[in-house]
Amino acid sequence: DTGFVTYDPGFVNTAACTSAITYIDGDAGILRYRGYPIEQLAEKSSFIEVSYLLMYGELPTAAQLTEFSDRLRVHTLLHEDMRRFFEGFPRDAHPMSVLSASVSALGTFYQDSLDPFDHDQVEISTVRLLAKLPTIASYAYKKSIGQPLLYPDNSLGYVENYLRMTFGVPATAYEIDPVMAKALDLLLVLHADHEQNCSTSAVRLVGSAHASLFASVSSGVNALSGPLHGGANEAVLEMLEKIRLDGGDVAAFVRKVKAREDGIKLMGFGHRVYKNYDPRAAIVKGMAQEVLGRMAKPDPLLDIAMQLEEIALADDFFVSRKLYPNVDFYTGLIYKAMGFPPKMFTVLFALGRLPGWIAQWREMIGDSATKIGRPRQVYTGAPVRDFIPLDQR
Ligand code: SDX
Repeated sequence: DTGFVTYDPGFVNTAACTSAITYIDGDAGILRYRGYPIEQLAEKSSFIEVSYLLMYGELPTAAQLTEFSDRLRVHTLLHEDMRRFFEGFPRDAHPMSVLSASVSALGTFYQDSLDPFDHDQVEISTVRLLAKLPTIASYAYKKSIGQPLLYPDNSLGYVENYLRMTFGVPATAYEIDPVMAKALDLLLVLHADHEQNCSTSAVRLVGSAHASLFASVSSGVNALSGPLHGGANEAVLEMLEKIRLDGGDVAAFVRKVKAREDGIKLMGFGHRVYKNYDPRAAIVKGMAQEVLGRMAKPDPLLDIAMQLEEIALADDFFVSRKLYPNVDFYTGLIYKAMGFPPKMFTVLFALGRLPGWIAQWREMIGDSATKIGRPRQVYTGAPVRDFIPLDQR
């Protein structure tokens, strides 16, 4: 009745760690942050409130939420010397590479917040990272399109500030679209944490060596950039676009996936843990239909995506392998409708996952039982043998 679950010893022995942050039941399609169902948080909470919940363990009171938001607001600006950092990147640099390099570089500009065992330094690095990542993300985008960087406007909310820095220009006032801001806030909530996924495991592994928060999260950004992980939302759009350019024959594409032609996969489908519908995908699908329904010119890729889902969910190849849409299947369509280019989709995933990475790093660092991550292996190489001198090889 407490909602706690008991694991069989076999599971506990193979688990990477214990954690009190996020609970997933892959078979039942359940996702909870600190015990709260994702469906309730998606409907009633905000990204800043969920960030607080993940990192501090409880929903904030009104006073705590105001104090936390104010603390973030005064740290949105980057060290001025970091502007030169962006001048050094080529214009066509992938923004995820810019993001991981810049997060790592924060450790050089803010050397007073690197000690993982100093409470005040952990707090200030937490706030700095959460406050500055949207600024870094917007600079990466502005650099790629040759537009001037915009300083943060701290009279705006977290998401609104990011949208203005990304899409605003100095010449004209930027008008926030409240529907877009709310949709983006919800997408960030849905991505905020996800137990021990690949990028979070990377953050924990690097942090277990007592590396700083900036160094650990930079490794998480790199892991997330992989197309099998966070890079999937960008890969889904490329896949849908390719189907469209090939004449929109969805059934023909599904046949290629089933025949494993060129090793192609149905991007945005499948999951290491969810062997049922990803609860986040269901929420994102509803939002995609709402956000795209507002567009003057409907996006043909939405129809292709929905056809793809319908065909796959009726095909035993996918159903027998328990392949269902995951969080990445529809998100790219929404980001595209918001005006983001595909190269920025995984950056948006990173903005959402940041509080989860921070919360997991803090939990791991705060657990005195944590040992340095050192997985073992099963050796499959040559048996012992004597050295062969060069003239005898
Ligand atoms: C995320 O872990 C997380 O929590 C991640 C994440 C998060 O919030 O952090 O949820 C975010 O990364 C979501 C996943 C995004 N990636 C993609 O959408 C890329 C496409 N999907 C896959 O590559 C794949 O499904 C994985 C990587 C997600 C999972 O791969 P697995 O663990 O190998 O899948 P599986 O063991 O369940 O595969 C079973 C079978 C295999 O075929 P057989 O050997 O049994 O014949 O299904 C096949 C796989 O080859 N398969 C697919 C497929 N995914 C698995 N076949 C076609 N298309 C796919 N998408």
